[in-house]
Amino acid sequence: MSAAPDPLTTQAPRSAADLAARFEREFGRRPDGVWQAPGRVNLIGEHTDYNEGFVLPFAIDKTARVAIGVRTDSALRLLSTYGDQGLVRADLGTLDAASAKGWTKYPLGVMWALQQRGVTVPGLDLLLDSNVPLGAGLSSSHAIECAVISALNDLTGAGLEPEEMVLATQRAENDFVGAPTGIMDQSASLRGSKGHAVFLDCRDQSVQLVPFDADQSGLVMLVIDTKVSHSHADGGYASRRASCELGAEVLGVKALRDVRVEDLEEAAGLLDEVTYRRVRHVVTENARVLQTVELLASEGPGSIGALLDASHASMRDDFEISCPELDTAVASSRANGAIGARMTGGGFGGAAIALTPVELEQQVRAAVERAFAEAGYKAPDIFTVTPAAGAMRLS
Ligand code: GLA
Repeated sequence: MSAAPDPLTTQAPRSAADLAARFEREFGRRPDGVWQAPGRVNLIGEHTDYNEGFVLPFAIDKTARVAIGVRTDSALRLLSTYGDQGLVRADLGTLDAASAKGWTKYPLGVMWALQQRGVTVPGLDLLLDSNVPLGAGLSSSHAIECAVISALNDLTGAGLEPEEMVLATQRAENDFVGAPTGIMDQSASLRGSKGHAVFLDCRDQSVQLVPFDADQSGLVMLVIDTKVSHSHADGGYASRRASCELGAEVLGVKALRDVRVEDLEEAAGLLDEVTYRRVRHVVTENARVLQTVELLASEGPGSIGALLDASHASMRDDFEISCPELDTAVASSRANGAIGARMTGGGFGGAAIALTPVELEQQVRAAVERAFAEAGYKAPDIFTVTPAAGAMRLS
C-alpha cells in the first residue's frame, strides 16, 4: 500500500500574489512584502558543524514563505496557512520562549535574537506558508527562521550580512527554541544556490558553491521521510554534542576539527570507548566531506556513492543517531539500485537520502515502501529534491 500523500510535501508553494491576497483577507491590508527561504538536505557532513568542521548541504526546492506587514505599535499577529493554532498574538516588549507555541517559536525567536543584537524590530502582522515537510529533518524550522530574518533585515534596514544572519538564527534556536544546534541548516537556507551544494567551513563560515547536478549525471536525489519525528531540543542531540566537547577537551584541541584521521589511533588510548567512537565519527566525517568535494569536481555526482554509504555506517555504528526506519530506508534503497544512501540531518528519525539512477527511481521507491510495510513501519513519504536558490524576497 503506498503512503497517503503528505499535504505539505505535495502541495506546490502558494505564489507570492496568492499569499499577499490571503494576507489581505486575514489582516485587512496589503503586506509590505513576501519573502521565502528553503529547507535543506545535507549531502554529507553530519554533526561536524558544531565541531567547527565541514558540511556540504544544499537548499531544496521546498520553501517557507512569509507575507509581512509592519505595524505602528509593538503588537505581533502571527498566522499560518497550515496547522490548527489560529491567530497567535504576542508583543515585542514581552517576547517569551516559555509561552511561545508550535511554529511561532521560530519567528518569535528570530525577533528576540535580533533584539538581542540591538536591532529595533517593529510590530508585525505575519502570514506563513510552507511546503517543507515538518519534522522530517529537512529544516522546516530554519526555513521559517531564514524567511523571517531575511524579511526583517530588509524591513529594518539592519544591513546584516548572511554570516550575521546565520549567527542570529543560531542564537534563536539555541537560546529561544532551546535546541543546541549548529550553523549548517541556516547557512544552506540563506546561502544556497540553484544547482549547487554549499561547501561550508564552519570555523570561519567561508563558503564555496560546488556544482551538484544529479540530473545531468542521470541521477535523482530521493528523500525518504521515515515519518519518525524527532526534536533537537530532546536529549540525544545535546548528549552527542557534549561527547564531542569532552573529546576535544581530553585531546587538548579547540574543536574536533583539529583532530586528523592519523591522530585517531593515539586518541583511542586517551578516550573512553564511547567518546572515542563519537570522535571517530566526526573526524572521519570531516575527511569524507573533503573527499566528496574533490570527487564532485573531478568525477561528478556518480562517484560519491561509497562516501554516502560510509557516512551512514559511521552515524549508525559510531555516532549512534540512526534508527531502524532510517537503516531500512538506506539498506533497501541500496539493495535495489541506489548508488549511495545515508540518513540526513540530526538523526533519531527524519529522512534519508538515496542517490539513484533515474531509470531505477520507481524500483527503489517501490522497494522501500515494501520494506517499510513488511517491517510494520508507518508508510514513508518519498520524493525527489534538487539544489535550489537560497532565501530571497519575492515581492
Ligand atoms: C541539525 C542541526 C545542524 C547539524 C545537524 C547534524 O540539523 O540543526 O546544526 O548539527 O543536525 O549535522
